Amino acid sequence: MTANRLDGKALAQEMRREMAKEVSDRVAAGKRPPGLAAVLVGENPSSHTYVRNKRKSCDEIGMANWLYHLPGDTSEQELLSLIDTLNADPAVHGILVQLPLPKQIREEAVIHAVTPLKDVDCFHPENVGRVTTGHPRYYPCTPHGVVQLVSRNGLEWSGKQVVVLGRSNIVGKPLALMLMQKATKANPAGGDATVTVAHTRTANLAAVCRGADVLIAAVGQPGCVTADMVKPGAVVVDVGTTVVDGKLRGDVDPKVTDVAGWLSPVPGGVGPMTITMLLYNTLRAAERIDG
Ligand code: GUN
Repeated sequence: MTANRLDGKALAQEMRREMAKEVSDRVAAGKRPPGLAAVLVGENPSSHTYVRNKRKSCDEIGMANWLYHLPGDTSEQELLSLIDTLNADPAVHGILVQLPLPKQIREEAVIHAVTPLKDVDCFHPENVGRVTTGHPRYYPCTPHGVVQLVSRNGLEWSGKQVVVLGRSNIVGKPLALMLMQKATKANPAGGDATVTVAHTRTANLAAVCRGADVLIAAVGQPGCVTADMVKPGAVVVDVGTTVVDGKLRGDVDPKVTDVAGWLSPVPGGVGPMTITMLLYNTLRAAERIDG
């Protein structure tokens, strides 16, 4: 058996076409184009690539965007004062500070400084709390991308055993929270799935994963999900993106395609969806701020 492909690239293109129309409709109605300010500190090559891709995607749908590239020795105070300026700028609807930051800057201080209305990453504790209590303002981009990728391929969450492998603040934890909420249009994964959060130190990890109807791998360890860990016919979503010998590798071993019913590729699966949901949040932010 060869698993069906959860094609994030194709779905991202479709959703971006829809959003390009929303952007041009707003502009035609005399509103400002939605705008995303990206902040990059230092010279981390992966961060440069991510930010370049995010900005290119903004351009493709007619979204305004700006890059603030600060030197690696920028002080925390300098970065916080830039964030203050962006918080007050009416042309900026979303602020994205690319992580990781250099060690002299406290990530937590920066995340707290972005005004929650412009927090399109959904990293601010107010926005995380809103997701937790079922009153979301935004959803974090990668978990939201995973949810859309599965749901828009016609696959069900309700009544399924879902195993989230990974417990990070950016993916594992918020995805588990989304699955525990009521289903909505923006979060069709909510409802009646049974959610297990596992990690690399989970006892009997292979057996836990084999119990999953939907298995989401987000641990950042290339190839760690092997075919013997997957229930035949399961939906497997690969969130891993580790560069090995210049190539992007997921958390899921390629042989899983012989066992799974559906599998997301790396690259071309979750990655394009993450960026798409960033654009989606920036559009929602423009609606909240400008009407
Ligand atoms: N670094 C790795 N992933 C992300 C992300 O989703 N947002 C930001 N701002 N930085 C990241």
